[in-house]
Amino acid sequence: MTQDLEIVLKDGLAAIDKAANLTDLEETEKEYIGRKGKLSEFFKKMGAATPEEKKELGQALNKVKTELEEKVESKRSLLKKAELAEKLEKEWIDVTLPGEKPKYGHVHPLTQVYKDVEQIFGQMGFAVVDGPEVESEYYNFEALNIPETHPARDMQDTFFIDKAADEKHRRLVLRTHTSPNQIRSMETYGAPLRIIVPGRVFRYEATDATHETTFDQVEGLLIDKDISLADLKGIMVEFLSRLFGKDMKVRFRPGYFPFVEPGIELDISCPFCKVNEPCKVCKGQRYIEFMGAGMVHPKVLEYGGIDPNEYQGWAFGFGLTRLAMMKYKIDDIRHLLSGDLRFNKQF
Ligand code: PHE
Repeated sequence: MTQDLEIVLKDGLAAIDKAANLTDLEETEKEYIGRKGKLSEFFKKMGAATPEEKKELGQALNKVKTELEEKVESKRSLLKKAELAEKLEKEWIDVTLPGEKPKYGHVHPLTQVYKDVEQIFGQMGFAVVDGPEVESEYYNFEALNIPETHPARDMQDTFFIDKAADEKHRRLVLRTHTSPNQIRSMETYGAPLRIIVPGRVFRYEATDATHETTFDQVEGLLIDKDISLADLKGIMVEFLSRLFGKDMKVRFRPGYFPFVEPGIELDISCPFCKVNEPCKVCKGQRYIEFMGAGMVHPKVLEYGGIDPNEYQGWAFGFGLTRLAMMKYKIDDIRHLLSGDLRFNKQF
């Protein structure tokens, strides 16, 4: 009997030693000192023993049990330490490593110029308004004093939509300029009026480095009493100087648009010229063409429901796309709407 017990003790100690992890150890513990474990067999057998045997066996059993228990405890604390060490090793991070930079998006150069233009004109008291890209012939041409037979309709090759509006508004078109919003805003707000209308416009034409079928314009319209082109000059000098961050000059030349009288072409001093250095952009001219403008034609005021005897005003329209190209020195208009990331990421 005690011999058997010694074997159990020896095996038990060896098994505990061998336990590779805490689960193993628990199994071994159950197997030897658990309620149904190997030692319990001996306790059961005690029932049949004489009192002397009982005493001797009982002491031996308790000794073995204590020894096994102590062995389990010391092994358990060893395994726990080992597991913690392993976990710490695995989960170790080097907090001194440089972090990964988050990737920031940024606005498209065209969007940036939109924002700049809206901000500067906004500060000068202009409201920013919007209009539809699918326009009617009435707003795009007729109400701007460009009747059906007018040769000026050829100036702007038009995309027609395969759907008529109504008798008055005639066919639907993709707006060829932002000028229809002169009429729309006169109808909506009346006089006095001080607005800009930035927006996308469309022309049916062959594309090259300076021409696209889709581009962006900014319409300007100021209507009040005692308005003259001198006010336009002041506003434009202020706007351009703020946009380019340096003193800019403007120059008027006569120009023709059916919806203004007199009509002008406005040139701006070349923002790229350096003193005493011929510049490629303006080809040494010192000025570059910038926009069409003029005093709003009395007929156009009438179309907009404003009395030309009481009010007058000026209007202008410039290419926002061209402005973005100038500001960011972009040499091909087709890059702007290409969606090509190699282009977009440069700004
Ligand atoms: N709408 C004209 C164009 O697209 C520009 C313009 C606007 C001219 C307002 C005069 C007044 O060319």
